[in-house]
Amino acid sequence: MSIIEELQALQVGGVADAQAAPDLATLEAVRVGYLGKKGSLTAILRGLGGLTAEERPAVGKVANEIRAAMEAAIDVRGRELEAKALEARVSAEAVDVTLPGRRRTPGRVHLIDQVVREVTDIFVGLGYRVAEGPEAELDYYNFTALNTPPDHPARSLADTFYIRDLSGEEATVAGESDVLLRTHTSPVQVRVMEAQVPPIYAIMPGRVYRRDIADPSHLPQFNQIEGLVVDEGITFGDLKGTLEHFVREVFGADRRTRIRPHFFPFTEPSAEVDVSCGICAGHGCRFCKSSGWLEILGCGMVDPNVFGHVGIDPAVYSGFAFGMGAERIAALRYDIPDLRVLIEGDMRFLRQF
Ligand code: PHE
Repeated sequence: MSIIEELQALQVGGVADAQAAPDLATLEAVRVGYLGKKGSLTAILRGLGGLTAEERPAVGKVANEIRAAMEAAIDVRGRELEAKALEARVSAEAVDVTLPGRRRTPGRVHLIDQVVREVTDIFVGLGYRVAEGPEAELDYYNFTALNTPPDHPARSLADTFYIRDLSGEEATVAGESDVLLRTHTSPVQVRVMEAQVPPIYAIMPGRVYRRDIADPSHLPQFNQIEGLVVDEGITFGDLKGTLEHFVREVFGADRRTRIRPHFFPFTEPSAEVDVSCGICAGHGCRFCKSSGWLEILGCGMVDPNVFGHVGIDPAVYSGFAFGMGAERIAALRYDIPDLRVLIEGDMRFLRQF
């Protein structure tokens, strides 16, 4: 076989190999195999040294043509393979915009927190400032400074969770630990009055604890919202007007309120506020136990003895305070007959709000 025939055979094989390459990596291997430094075309061209000066130009010309033909074949196949690869990628990465989306359930604020925030906002709108205090509280703030000394029957020890110091060296009040889980938010009143000088307009949301068994109207842990105003010339009329505004904001303009005398150690006089029943419009039904009224909060004028504990002069200042349970407000507003559903985490119930 002459060298020209050899070259022609090589071209046929090379072009066929290029056209048959199934992917870009194989095609590159074909290119290196024929045209690379150690490729077969290169090897043949090295043998040109053995030719005569007359033969060389003709063979060189054919060799160059073959190189060009093979490069062209490789180039064409390369483009084909690139187009195929792009097509494969486009179909693999395609997004079907007509498919329905996957629904994500957004988180939401729990009904109790909604009520706490709403009530707090109503008083912030009246110029009150938000204040907070510890849930593990000293007996002094929960009882003594609120005019409830150790032997006072209103302490009803059975209702309070006391926190025991395991070192055995705890200070005690009337035989009980002096650290407890606060039974109401009223101790925050005392802390606010200790820290600030009047005028004081404070709203104090927080968790409270009582040794109760959960039932339709009791929870061992619940949320209270406490209000406190101390200023010159504050009267029971201010308290009444403030609470009537609050009730209308939370329950709507068509609900009526009534104030009944009551007793709390830290307010004098004290009262409880009722709102007309939303289910029977005050006519009497099972929800309001036929009375037409639902109790929503306790309140009163700050007792001068409480002012005495915090160094506020009752001859100059007077004030009122009120406290309500957020769960109860939620239940009365949405006609929820059993408070326990509020803490059970059943989404079918909670999603309604
Ligand atoms: N602390 C009282 C309770 O838990 C409510 C209250 C607050 C009453 C402020 C009067 C004034 O029942």
